[in-house]
Amino acid sequence: MPGILLGDVFPNFEANTTLGKIKFHDYLEDSWGVLFSHPKDFTPVCTTELGRAARLAGEFQKRNVKMIALSIDSVEDHLGWSKDINFYNGEPASATLPFPIIADDKRELAIQLGMLDPDERDKDGIPLTARCVFVVGPDKRLKLSILYPATTGRNFDEILRVIDSLQLTAQKRVATPVDWKPGDRCMVLPNISEEEAKALFPDGVFPKDLPSGKKYLRYTP
Ligand code: BEZ
Repeated sequence: MPGILLGDVFPNFEANTTLGKIKFHDYLEDSWGVLFSHPKDFTPVCTTELGRAARLAGEFQKRNVKMIALSIDSVEDHLGWSKDINFYNGEPASATLPFPIIADDKRELAIQLGMLDPDERDKDGIPLTARCVFVVGPDKRLKLSILYPATTGRNFDEILRVIDSLQLTAQKRVATPVDWKPGDRCMVLPNISEEEAKALFPDGVFPKDLPSGKKYLRYTP
């Protein structure tokens, strides 16, 4: 089964992009990375998604995350379509998008990374890429993957939110609860003892009483 699992080192692939040839690890340098694929250039949902991604580029940059898009179209198509995306965003059509787009026209990466959507095919019946999101850490390992079908556009606010959680939990021994956003309380990891938790979290550990009597639901600011 092709694909990539959490914790795997992301392949250091070479690819043609709208900013020239890249080697993925060199492109990332010491940053975090987000690679997001889309089914096809010159399609409506993809245009709204890449438009939103471009408008949020400053937010990704603030978090030290390098962005890169991918589809199975050519560099020439990507460059032509970029004009539509810029225009959709109210920017000059000739502007350069704030991230490169990989031209995976032979579907080599799409196959290697398990990105093809068998339900969406081009006019020759060949599968298109799904809407994958891969977040890669500075250690080049896969930290998160989310897979959407072609017919469901992504929520880029959610992608930023999970990056905030990934970056926090890479630094502190906490987990983020449902619907967490930066500034909200976190959860103390279940494998941390009461004594250790007290030492680790000087702002306090607040257990919630539960019918089981077990003190596993512990908040910390
Ligand atoms: C779209 O971007 O609108 C789209 C692309 C492929 C299949 C379905 C929707």
